Amino acid sequence: MQVLLAGATGAIGRPLIRALIADGNTVFALVRNPANHALARELGAEPVIADVLDRDGLLRALDGRVADAVIHQATALREVKAARRIPADDPTGLLRTIGTANLLDAADLLGARRFLVQSLILGYGYRDHGERPLTERDQFGVYDGGVADEVVRACVAGEEQVFEAAGVDGIALRYGLFYGPGAFSDLFADLMGKHAPVGPLGPGGVNSWIHVEDAAAATVAALDRGTPGRAYNLADDTPITWREFFAEVSRAHQTPRPIRLPAWLIRLVVPYIGALMADTSMRISSARAHEELGWRPQHTSVAEGLAMRTR
Ligand SMILES: NC(=O)c1ccc[n+]([C@@H]2O[C@H](COP(=O)([O-])OP(=O)(O)OC[C@H]3O[C@@H](n4cnc5c(N)ncnc54)[C@H](OP(=O)(O)O)[C@@H]3O)[C@@H](O)[C@H]2O)c1
Repeated sequence: MQVLLAGATGAIGRPLIRALIADGNTVFALVRNPANHALARELGAEPVIADVLDRDGLLRALDGRVADAVIHQATALREVKAARRIPADDPTGLLRTIGTANLLDAADLLGARRFLVQSLILGYGYRDHGERPLTERDQFGVYDGGVADEVVRACVAGEEQVFEAAGVDGIALRYGLFYGPGAFSDLFADLMGKHAPVGPLGPGGVNSWIHVEDAAAATVAALDRGTPGRAYNLADDTPITWREFFAEVSRAHQTPRPIRLPAWLIRLVVPYIGALMADTSMRISSARAHEELGWRPQHTSVAEGLAMRTR
């Protein structure tokens, strides 16, 4: 297939280019930052320079091309969200709402019928979901008036647009939290190396993770075998607490001990991080992806995935 990939130079985009090419596809890598042009080429993709949020510029850059599929992996999550509430114009929120709409127009222009959009398990809601693993049959898009509602709303908006678009076979990929090269494990290792606080005292909530290489493999499986109109949970087999995550990252990256602060202080200073790390607990079932996509994570736990670094 010929595939247009937005977010091609990001933490999942880089291994995804390699996985798509290994699967026999041609990749057009959408690159906003011209400095990443060479990177896209090195990875084997053909770069196309455009900003996903600039509809006219995007369509101009793609004019005259054809593709079979569009994959939307563009996010802008690097900045810590310190505001009391995530605003509706949060950059990643805009990429999920306006960015998805613009990329659907791009799919129309390219003649691409298949559309995969990045979504997130946190769309199930920032709360304690208890012991039972969440499946795709659980309600997605639960709001509680909290600081993170806009994150949930943007995930839901991205999914709904691709499910409802006329003439498009839309699939939503509800990834667990990313770790691996360029992802959260690297970000937190960097913070620990600078003796910066990383999270709450105590265990923190439980969450489900996925190595970026496994996320890339699952995405290719969904491109090839996913059922249109379906969402797929994609996480490894071993949900862990934040305390366990920080310990694994610290061990694998050989950083100083993780510094953690009282949850009340985190909620006060960086409310989003409090909602994510102290108030949310979720275990995710990826059984649908195992059965329908024939996908299994190669790294069944964060401990196993990060151990690769030390081998
Ligand atoms: N499920 C998850 O846990 C999850 C999901 C997403 C991200 N993350 C994590 O969050 C951290 C930071 O992520 P990030 O989103 O800042 O960076 P990132 O994953 O490193 O890269 C984001 C990608 O989106 C592209 N992009 C952003 N805005 C764009 C726009 N307006 N038009 C076109 N392309 C655009 C970037 O392109 P350019 O380089 O050209 O700007 C880049 O390729 C990483 O650790 C990542 O793993 C986690």
